Amino acid sequence: MTSQLTAEIPAGDTAPDLAVHVRGLQMSYGDRSVLCGIDFEVRRGEVFCLLGPNGAGKTTTVEILEGFRARTGGTVTVLGLDPAAQPARLRERIGIVLQECGFPRQARVGELIDLWRDYYPHPRPLGDLLDVTGLTADRNSPVRRLSGGQRRRLDFALALAGDPDLVFLDEPTTGFDPEARRRLWTSVENLRDLGKTIVLTTHYLDEAERLADRVAILLDGRIKIAGSTREVARLAALPSRISFRMPNVLLSGAIPAPEGIDLTVRGHTATCQTRNTAVTLRALLDWAARYRVGDLDDLAVDTPSLEDAYLHHVERSDGDPGL
Ligand SMILES: Nc1ncnc2c1ncn2[C@@H]1O[C@H](COP(=O)(O)OP(=O)(O)OP(=O)(O)O)[C@@H](O)[C@H]1O
Ligand SMILES: [Mg+2]
Repeated sequence: MTSQLTAEIPAGDTAPDLAVHVRGLQMSYGDRSVLCGIDFEVRRGEVFCLLGPNGAGKTTTVEILEGFRARTGGTVTVLGLDPAAQPARLRERIGIVLQECGFPRQARVGELIDLWRDYYPHPRPLGDLLDVTGLTADRNSPVRRLSGGQRRRLDFALALAGDPDLVFLDEPTTGFDPEARRRLWTSVENLRDLGKTIVLTTHYLDEAERLADRVAILLDGRIKIAGSTREVARLAALPSRISFRMPNVLLSGAIPAPEGIDLTVRGHTATCQTRNTAVTLRALLDWAARYRVGDLDDLAVDTPSLEDAYLHHVERSDGDPGL
């Protein structure tokens, strides 16, 4: 069974609030099927993230949406256009950040962006582009002097030069140091604040969790699950973990352990797993009050992350094609 939260929009209906509408998308390279009929949609103004292991077909999907790759089957509508039929019209309205991009190294940042702006009928003002990508201070720097992170931001500025409605980012932060990643995240958030729609692929689950309004996990040629990061985590039905520092009176056996709660003790830390955090927390606090244990020191609740949910879905599908 394929778990999806995307089935509310009937096939063929391209509602105006959708930037991307995909139904039954198939793609084969020779006789090898990479996409086996996938359905998803991207709403206008959201950050949508396609997740999946190496070779799952994320870049293939994105390139089909961009009009760079001809699909084998299914229907695809991007900003109301079929990318296979009207790639040139579509590309006037989208921005693309490729994994690798070569620039004339002698050019200065501002000059290069201005050159790009000339290609479009309604370009964004240069000052805006520098501002939203955090490049204002680098306007007069030669491209060859930019760091990797600054170049990536220049990729963004160029992708935004034509004031696109929809921006594609295929693994935009691979190989970045943590600070460069954070800066790029801020640029993506700035884009969203401008009302742009963003389609992102990444292998960094924290990146997806931070940026994405909705995610879809692509696996074995199918969308295994799609929804908000919270929904995807919830559908994995993983327990939360509660931990606290063991009170000495419990360690010494002077009081009974909390009833009905399966505590694991490692050193001075007690942990338990629960699918009903509120009930378990209340039971623990009642127990602590009854036996006058005092406050539970270092009490912490860890809810399952998107990474936990992703690994759960991926591991569950290993050897189980019928997930
Ligand atoms: N031009 C091509 N010809 C033949 N096979 C291809 C071609 N492009 C991609 N593939 C194959 O299609 C599958 C999906 O590739 P794709 O690049 O879409 O995956 P991906 O999810 O983007 O992976 P990654 O996370 O590594 O970037 C892979 O098995 C890949 O080898
Ligand atoms: Mg890829």
